[in-house]
Amino acid sequence: MSVHEIRVKLGARSYPVFVGNGLLSRCAGRLRTILRGRKAVILSTPRIHRLHGHALARQVRVVASKVSVLLVADGEERKNEATLFRVLRGMARAGLQRDGCLLVLGGGVLGDIGGMAASLYMRGIDLVQCPTTLLAQTDAAIGGKTAVDFAGIKNLVGTFHQPKAVLADPLTLRTLSSRHFRTGLAEVIKHGIILDPRLFASVEKRLDRFLDLEPGVLEDLVARSVRIKAEVVARDERESGVRAFLNYGHTLGHAIESATGYRAYTHGQAVAIGMVFAARLSLRLGLCSPETSRRQEELLHRAGFPGVLPRVPSGELYRRMLLDKKARAGRIQFVLTRKIGVVTIISNVPKTTVFGVLNQLRSSHA
Ligand SMILES: NC(=O)c1ccc[n+]([C@@H]2O[C@H](COP(=O)([O-])OP(=O)(O)OC[C@H]3O[C@@H](n4cnc5c(N)ncnc54)[C@H](O)[C@@H]3O)[C@@H](O)[C@H]2O)c1
Ligand SMILES: [Zn+2]
Repeated sequence: MSVHEIRVKLGARSYPVFVGNGLLSRCAGRLRTILRGRKAVILSTPRIHRLHGHALARQVRVVASKVSVLLVADGEERKNEATLFRVLRGMARAGLQRDGCLLVLGGGVLGDIGGMAASLYMRGIDLVQCPTTLLAQTDAAIGGKTAVDFAGIKNLVGTFHQPKAVLADPLTLRTLSSRHFRTGLAEVIKHGIILDPRLFASVEKRLDRFLDLEPGVLEDLVARSVRIKAEVVARDERESGVRAFLNYGHTLGHAIESATGYRAYTHGQAVAIGMVFAARLSLRLGLCSPETSRRQEELLHRAGFPGVLPRVPSGELYRRMLLDKKARAGRIQFVLTRKIGVVTIISNVPKTTVFGVLNQLRSSHA
C-alpha cells in the first residue's frame, strides 16, 4: 500500500506528514530515526486508545527503548491548564528525559494540549502528531500551533512547537462521529476555496463517497488537503501573511461561536455560515462572479451545513468580529474570494455593506 509523504518545508525544522490508510499499524519504519533507543509516551484518550492506540503502541515498541501510554479525557471543555498539567505530570512520572518523545493520538483538542506539553516539558522535547479527526489530520496537527483555553478565552495561552513528523491514518476517521467528521469537512472545502480549485471540484464530485467514508476517497482528499495546509505553513510559519487565508469563513464563524456560547453550532457549522457570508460579501463587492459564490453555497448546502444565522443581532456579530484577534486598528480583516482557489484580504469594507449581507443571509434562509 502506498503512503503519501508531504513535506512541511521549514528549513531545519522541516518535517514529513505521512498520509495512508492503515498507516498506524505499519509506521515503525517511519518512526525509527525519531524514536530509536529513546523513551516514548503515547498520549491519548481511553476511547481513542481502545480503538486505534494498540496498533500504534505495537509499532512504537518495535523502535523505542520504552513506551508508556498516558490516557486523559479530552473535549473542548477540558482544553485547559488542568489537563495540560495532568499531561506534564504523566510525562514526568513516565521518566521522560530531554531526548524523550511525546506521540499524540487524538483530535485537535488533544493535539493542541499535547503539543503545548511537549513544548514546555524540559523546555521542549520531540513531538509526533498522530491525528485521528478529519480536522486534526488536515489542519490542526500541521503547523506547530499549540494552545489551551484560559480565563474563559479560547486558545489564549499557547506556543509554537513544530512536530518531528505527522502520521495521519484516514481509516481512523471511520470511527469518528458524523458531527465531528463534518467539522473537518468544512475546513477541507475551505482549503479548496482558498488555494486549490481542483480539490474543491473533487469534493463537489465525490461528496457522497467522502461522506460514506470510502477509504480511497478519504485518503486522497485528506492528502490533498494536507498539501494545502503544509504549503501555507511553509510560506508563512508565524501567520503574518498568507496563513491569514486560512481564516476564510472564520471571522464571522468565530463571532457566531462566541455569541452562542460555543454550544449551538459546531466549529464547522459556524465556519460554513461564515463562508457563505464571505462568498456573498465578495459578490456584493464585485470581487467574484455569481457562479463562484453559488458553487460555494451549493456545496456547503449539499454537505449538510445550515446557512442560517443565529438569532443574534447583526450589531453584536459585527462587534464580535471587531474583537477578533486578526482585526487591526478597529478594522475587520475580511478574507474574500475572487474565484475558487483565489482569495484576497480586504480591510475597508463599509459597515453598511456588511450589515446588508448579514441581513440578506437572515431573510433568505429564515
Ligand atoms: N493548532 C491548530 O493549528 C489548530 C487548528 C484548528 C483547530 N485547532 C483546535 O482543534 C480543536 C478541535 O479539534 P477536533 O475537531 O479534532 O475535535 P476534538 O479533538 O474535540 O475531537 C472530537 C471528538 O472526537 C473524539 N475522537 C477523536 N478521534 C476519534 C476517532 N478516530 N474515533 C472516534 N472518536 C474520536 C475525541 O475524543 C472528541 O470527543 C479545537 O480546540 C481547535 O482550537 C487547532
Ligand atoms: Zn477552523
